[in-house]
Amino acid sequence: MTPTDVTRSGRGVTGIDLSDLDGFWAAPIPARAAAFAELRARDPLSFHPEPDSPWRDPDGGFHAVTRLDDVLAASRAPQVFCSGRGSTSIPDMPAEFVEFFGSMIGMDDPRHARLRRIVSRGFTPRRLARLTEDVAATARRIVDEVIDRGECDAVTDIAARLPMTIVCDLMGVPASQYDFVFDASNVVLGAGDPDYVPEGSDIVTAILTAAGGLAELMRDLGAKRAQDPTDDVTSALVNAEIDGERLTPDELASFFILLVVAGNETTRNAISWGLHLLTENPDQRDVWLADVDGVTPTAVDEIVRLASPVIFMRRTCTQDTELGGTAMREGDKVALFYWAANRDPAHFTDPDRFDVRRDPNPHVGFGGPGPHFCLGAHLARREMSVMFRELLTRVPDIHTTAPPSRLRSMFINGVKALPVAFTAGGVR
Ligand code: HEM
Repeated sequence: MTPTDVTRSGRGVTGIDLSDLDGFWAAPIPARAAAFAELRARDPLSFHPEPDSPWRDPDGGFHAVTRLDDVLAASRAPQVFCSGRGSTSIPDMPAEFVEFFGSMIGMDDPRHARLRRIVSRGFTPRRLARLTEDVAATARRIVDEVIDRGECDAVTDIAARLPMTIVCDLMGVPASQYDFVFDASNVVLGAGDPDYVPEGSDIVTAILTAAGGLAELMRDLGAKRAQDPTDDVTSALVNAEIDGERLTPDELASFFILLVVAGNETTRNAISWGLHLLTENPDQRDVWLADVDGVTPTAVDEIVRLASPVIFMRRTCTQDTELGGTAMREGDKVALFYWAANRDPAHFTDPDRFDVRRDPNPHVGFGGPGPHFCLGAHLARREMSVMFRELLTRVPDIHTTAPPSRLRSMFINGVKALPVAFTAGGVR
């Protein structure tokens, strides 16, 4: 057996099994961090069998990239480590999913660049500046609604509502549809967790039904805006023409699904983990409270680093190659573990420490340097900044009263519920 074959047999030197959803991924966060520290130090590019899923390839597996330098190197070489073959999660995407989930996050240039050029129009600094007022007003309303209660669920009552409202507002989705969009996005990204699959349905049907509903909503809205444009992003997208091209109705629908899942679940988990981190680190709350405006920019990035709401993204080798000294073959699946790279002691001093003033903070929570770097990073930072400013100035003693109830997933570092308490009435 060659050295590569030993690695591929799944007999890693550490015995750590990254495909174990109910063992490894359900373990407490410090245990997860310790295991990744061991992998980074002893076996930074280990090979694992595919995790359990309806689409699991029993003979397949993936390389796990855990060091920041290797994540950066792969991100910078998208022609070798591509996004457009199979999927960006471990199992290849089944054919029936492509209609809804065949969005730009799973494409390579030149198709990716074409779509990104068109949709970037929806994310211009001018449009985002206009959105700032909406973000602030929405955050204020969210806190207004809970402030007299003295307690609530931080996920559904606080963290989830801001990104949902903003993404829907951005696209021009009417408020009457917010609940539907929220439930559907939970199903799409949380379908590995029994709590999010409607009773009596299997995972595949649940995901396709949810995505089909989102797509229909967007096709209808797109048709309306093509006739009668407003100043929302849907109008910009259906009427944008770049080099004679515009988005087709199906491209618009799958972009919306991407935005809903990429923009909602991530931001809401970041805000929820942020509240948990603040509770666990009272010294850092004090530092932040002492200078809310000054500390917010670094604090928000530190939350994204430690939360790493997107745990990994997959790439696929387009040719035989090498990464960090490990040989890889064409077609190999490579998981870039942003969560692990964000705790790499080679780049982050005292990496498990929550340090709201950490600077520099070269984290890859929004992805590595390359074509797929998060399109919504500015918006996400803005949403988180405004939400925490609102919370820290109006309910400064907000704290969690139980540990986060975590999503069963190795892809999304999700929080399903997080009870919090604060002095009722707060500061108006
Ligand atoms: C804290 C919040 C967020 C986190 C942690 C996050 C994380 C990420 C990551 C890691 C990627 C890279 C995917 C890859 O490597 O292939 C990504 C891509 C993307 N994100 Fe975000 N994201 C956040 C918020 C948002 C928001 C608010 C939006 C939009 C409303 C958004 C839209 C997108 C889109 C469209 C892409 C795909 C870009 C492309 O393929 O060119 N994200 N995000």
